Amino acid sequence: MKGLILAGGVGTRLRPFTYSGAKQLVPVANRPVLYYVVDNLVDAQITDLAVVISPETGREVKQSLGDGSAFGARLTYVLQDKPLGIAHAVKVARPFLQEDDFVMFLGDNLIGTRIAPTVQRFARSPELSAFVLLKEVSDPSAFGVVKVDAQGNVMYLQEKPKHPPSNLALVGVYLFRRVIHDAIDELSPSWRGELEITDAITRLMQRGGKVSVETLSSWWLDTGKKDDLLLANDTVLDDWLKAGQEGQVDEDSKITGRVRVEKGAKVIRSTIRGPAIIGRDAELIDARIGPFTSIGDRVKVHRSTVDHSVLMEECLVQDIPRLEDSLIGRRVIVRPGASRHGALSLMVGDDCLVELSRERGG
Ligand code: DAU
Repeated sequence: MKGLILAGGVGTRLRPFTYSGAKQLVPVANRPVLYYVVDNLVDAQITDLAVVISPETGREVKQSLGDGSAFGARLTYVLQDKPLGIAHAVKVARPFLQEDDFVMFLGDNLIGTRIAPTVQRFARSPELSAFVLLKEVSDPSAFGVVKVDAQGNVMYLQEKPKHPPSNLALVGVYLFRRVIHDAIDELSPSWRGELEITDAITRLMQRGGKVSVETLSSWWLDTGKKDDLLLANDTVLDDWLKAGQEGQVDEDSKITGRVRVEKGAKVIRSTIRGPAIIGRDAELIDARIGPFTSIGDRVKVHRSTVDHSVLMEECLVQDIPRLEDSLIGRRVIVRPGASRHGALSLMVGDDCLVELSRERGG
């Protein structure tokens, strides 16, 4: 069985973080989402993997994952010139996939379960043409939605329906046999100009294929938007973080709960409440951190309180009484201005959100 990871597309929903970066590389507990995807496939003994990349962010994805040996995988990169749909990505990867069964995993999705048992189940069920993972959600209209019969077989699927036929959403993990390629070859672009994987699965069923489902009981996070990403960070810190102290913590600092301080980090006269992770070579001086906070590599927090937030690499937060529920991109500086009459002075990129406390904003 082979693996196909989709890390192409152009991220618009997580702007501004995705102008310069791939959304699949946005960090959760200081590791790109994509790393968890590769881990999950390797854990299921699927090590021959292709990663679909785009011209805009492909180089960055390649640099981050390398040849896959750090994960115990062998990676092949497949360039998709334009994001013409998930089924189009499968088509582009056909020379890699050949006639093999494969698992397709969308590179910006994080699930709280190992896929290994599902992969084994699919391998033992030759009568199935495809298998999809689902999750019950309260607002299915933002996803691919599936109607399932009493035996757990798919009756029909719809992509982002206005009137969802059920509350079961596709979570972005699909298992396929080679016949999916025949179904994709018969597709034409949808109203939004994409080759839809939901249409391909429908076609597969029209050709007599049987498609079964498994509904996740664990969490699933589609890390597309700010609140999703903060929630993903909370959940991963809570469920998976291994406490450890490889950095330097001085005697005047206090650490409580599950906290990981990475190599080269310095914690001076600071308090950290777990779950929290402090990245490599980060520097905390007179800081109050956490809970539910990821401090990226080489971030500096001086004389500030940061709570329930993600600070990406190389940020500087200085003299800020309280920063919370925030997602701060790479190399951002947050500090008080020089103005003495309470005016704000900002240098903020496109599509940012600046929320000030009412006391300050007037
Ligand atoms: O998150 C789950 C949902 O993912 C499913 O419920 C939907 O059925 C499925 O279509 C998909 O919807 P999204 O709107 O979230 O898809 P998005 O455009 O974000 O693409 C998902 C991943 O696939 C992302 O990592 C980018 C990549 N991709 C996407 C397209 C359209 C490609 O590599 N190439 C593409 O052409």
